[in-house]
Amino acid sequence: MAWNDKVKEACCEAAENGNIVDEIKRKARALGKKIVLCEGEDRRVVEAAAVCVKEQIAKIVLLGNKEQIETNNPHLDLSDVEIIDPKTSSKTAEYASLLYELRKAKGMTPEQAQVQAQDATFFGALMLKRGEADGLVSGACHSTANTLRPGLQIIRTAPGVTSVSSFNLMVAPACGNEYVPDGKLVFADCGLNPTYTAEGLADCAIATAKSAREIAGLDPRVAMLSFSTMGSAKHDNVTLVQEAVKIAKEKAPELQLDGELQFDAAIVPSVAALKAPGSKVAGRANVFIFPDLQSGNIGYKIAERLGGFQAIGPICQGFAKPLNDLSRGCKASDIVCAVAITAIQAE
Ligand code: ACO
Repeated sequence: MAWNDKVKEACCEAAENGNIVDEIKRKARALGKKIVLCEGEDRRVVEAAAVCVKEQIAKIVLLGNKEQIETNNPHLDLSDVEIIDPKTSSKTAEYASLLYELRKAKGMTPEQAQVQAQDATFFGALMLKRGEADGLVSGACHSTANTLRPGLQIIRTAPGVTSVSSFNLMVAPACGNEYVPDGKLVFADCGLNPTYTAEGLADCAIATAKSAREIAGLDPRVAMLSFSTMGSAKHDNVTLVQEAVKIAKEKAPELQLDGELQFDAAIVPSVAALKAPGSKVAGRANVFIFPDLQSGNIGYKIAERLGGFQAIGPICQGFAKPLNDLSRGCKASDIVCAVAITAIQAE
């Protein structure tokens, strides 16, 4: 088939898949989850809260000062949004005790817990821990580190998971892409762990395959990426990926997963035939595990800026309860999408 025909065919299939964001919202609507948004001081977050309740994507708890939120956003109908102020809530003392219990072994004092529980992200994470919300979204006006640390310290990892990681859902441009017949790919880890052990990378691959199935509706074919394909180069960085492949195959033998693979060998059938003959994943991968955060973060931004892909995420995975970080450059519509994804993860 000529290249142009292949592109046309990919376009048609992508169009048939419809809008993935609409599909995610539709799934979330059916679940009726309660999601806490921690940044009531940010107008984009308040707008997203109003949209989520109006479109019934999720029930919303918005953290912040009610009077200030209503004064700053007079045009928005917030009547169905529950607003809680961590600084004055009757729950804060109770949450502070819980925080103290969780962190005293790390040197936290009751006084420090009392102050920290009034911080909106900590308050939200404690709500989640207590089961008083199903998921948390924050980070529109806080750094990734300040958003994720309360989650890492309070929510911690799901049973059997050694490391929280993140993935990006990469949606192909409307004109389609020859190598993306489903119109979407999943990349990990592009936003969370700066470095990985082989075991952590294997966990990330297994968790990402699950997310690709549950959030993106893909039948995952996982490529463990490297600058080497099937032993073509020798280096400690390559060895780490090879070990991760071995561990992931042992832990999840049912997965279609292979490596180590260069990106072209993972996605281009003719290169795969040359460099990784016999691999069931090479040349047809749709889930890509980068070896570290440098390559993952750079990789997804190249696909976004030069390849025209829409990047949804980073979306966290591996927490005992779902918690997601926003980009500080996000729009209200991105926050609505993050709420919907968090609701699906809560199921
Ligand atoms: N999984 C599970 N637990 C973890 C993880 C993890 N991935 N990382 C840290 N922890 C644990 C620690 O062991 C620690 O536990 P403890 O306090 O009970 O001993 C706790 O979480 C808190 O750890 P800290 O040391 O306070 O946090 P750390 O300094 O490791 O920071 C963070 C974690 C914030 C996620 C850090 O790894 C980081 O900054 N990552 C990079 C984020 C980033 O800048 N991304 C790129 C930008 S995103 C974008 O481009 C859209």
